[in-house]
Amino acid sequence: MSFQTLFTKMEDHTLIVTINRPDVLNALNKQVIHDLDAVMDRVYKFPEIKSVVITGAGLKSFVAGADIKEFESLSKEEATALAKRGQAVFAKIEQSPKPIIACVNGFALGGGCELAMSCHFVIASESAIFGQPEVNLGIMVGYGGSQRLTQRVGKGRAMELIITGKTINATQAMNYGLVNYVVPQTELLDKAFSILKVVHEKSPIAVGNSIKAINAVWDETVNGYDVEANLFGECFNSEDAKEGIAAFNEKRKPHFKGH
Ligand code: COA
Repeated sequence: MSFQTLFTKMEDHTLIVTINRPDVLNALNKQVIHDLDAVMDRVYKFPEIKSVVITGAGLKSFVAGADIKEFESLSKEEATALAKRGQAVFAKIEQSPKPIIACVNGFALGGGCELAMSCHFVIASESAIFGQPEVNLGIMVGYGGSQRLTQRVGKGRAMELIITGKTINATQAMNYGLVNYVVPQTELLDKAFSILKVVHEKSPIAVGNSIKAINAVWDETVNGYDVEANLFGECFNSEDAKEGIAAFNEKRKPHFKGH
């Protein structure tokens, strides 16, 4: 797999995706959005990829936002289209049936914070900084931040962060519920791998269906309880469910195969 703006590496069935524009603190230009879209197609398609970690190149930044240089001459219509394109790619990340962890290794500002929030959960290094500073530029969040930040931290905190443009550090982000763990920079990937190792031992059907059911909380077009019941039923159609239940009764470890 090769991309203009991303490094990718497979390790223990996890695809590590590193956004690689360190000179501009890994800012999201159109090419990064295009490459993230393309990498997600592969994540959906290839069974050998069981999970994904998204991080940023270098020690300073995860992603410092959308590329401001591309904003200079945008018309209203172009800006709307840009936001819709980014939102669609981030939705593809959020809706992935395979777990995706954001390993935030520094600045997660603007589109960077929005990207982290589109992942299933976030692990941050001690130096991570989160925020939605778009108002400082006379603009606003556009890649889903008004929705996902509110989902994650509640209306009052989201409102304050978005309308003041202030940033918060990793500890504050954890207190807000934006981040699951804060670890030293050098332990960021190890922490993600230790969690994913546990997930990889489960049935991918059970994991994928669980992700879908949780995401249904924020889908106004469906009843989340119905979605959950149907997905619960679907699990029982799988060999993995038979194996998991048989293994429990036979007092042995289950061996899930993903079908
Ligand atoms: N888009 C384009 N380029 C960016 C960028 C962005 N979002 N964020 C940083 N860069 C570039 C800078 O222009 C600079 O490039 P240069 O070396 O050619 O001048 C380089 O990355 C390093 O950034 P710099 O500002 O010098 O680093 P710093 O440590 O002083 O400050 C930040 C770091 C993150 C506080 C600062 O870069 C910043 O505020 N970035 C914009 C954040 C933002 O508003 N994001 C939302 C965008 S919608």
